[in-house]
Amino acid sequence: MDQYAVVGHPISHSLSPEIQAQFAAETEQQISYSAIQFELDNFADQLHELQSQGYKGINVTVPFKQQAFELADRLSPRARDAGAVNTLIFQPDGKIAGDNTDGIGLCRDLIINHNVLIEHRKILILGAGGAVRGVLGPLLAKKPRLLSIANRTVEKAEKLAEDFSAVGNILAGSFNELGHEKYDLIINGTSAGLLKEVPPVPDEVLGINSICYDMMYDIKNPTAFVQWALDRGALRAYDGLGMLVEQAAESFYIWRGIRPQTTEVIASLRQ
Ligand code: ATR
Repeated sequence: MDQYAVVGHPISHSLSPEIQAQFAAETEQQISYSAIQFELDNFADQLHELQSQGYKGINVTVPFKQQAFELADRLSPRARDAGAVNTLIFQPDGKIAGDNTDGIGLCRDLIINHNVLIEHRKILILGAGGAVRGVLGPLLAKKPRLLSIANRTVEKAEKLAEDFSAVGNILAGSFNELGHEKYDLIINGTSAGLLKEVPPVPDEVLGINSICYDMMYDIKNPTAFVQWALDRGALRAYDGLGMLVEQAAESFYIWRGIRPQTTEVIASLRQ
């Protein structure tokens, strides 16, 4: 049986083993998939140990995505753009290939699961850390009219805008600078939700048809950002559970060459 795992620190709350088990059952693939907590130092040694045990592929989560990027012998274009790797493939020649499925996971959740249009729309993205860098390429590939990046530390937003300026129409600024016009889609990519906080974005960004999306998820309760949006009358506010499942589905597809259905998996996790 081919072995896969997700590695991170901490990892005990990961839903990935459950998600991948459902994909495997549905597609009748005989695989095992476990969650393994890595020590914080020596990512490379721990990874090579799994490679020598015969694992076929690894999902990488916080805080190792940049280290996985650096360690990979080969990188997909989207991993290169993201500067981070969440999917590793141990190849038959002993090389390690790195890919990033976070951005396509976000786009598929928005476009397919939630019927959100990106093309020609104005998008505001909150945050400028690794999570945001990971999704900018795939978002810009969908040709929004404008993508504004607002961040507490403005320089980080400016750096991202500069790095991706060739791919689309991008603005960078503080929450206040960018927060005085309305956006069609507002995506929270900050980690403020970990502290149940919401980035200080002015209410004016919300129009009557604005859609809000939190890259974080909470299975039981609305996330702080989803609640913020609902409190201000947003009709459509989604958390990132679907993104989690979609990025997992893309990893499964890379490893197994078969694309699992996601709708029922998302619904079953929500229950
Ligand atoms: P990740 O990998 O989750 O992106 P990160 O690279 O540390 O983690 O980035 C965290 C992001 O959340 C940053 O944009 C950070 O803002 P700064 O760049 O100014 O630090 C943002 N962030 C974290 N806590 C926040 C808060 N309470 N309010 C607003 N932004 C916050």
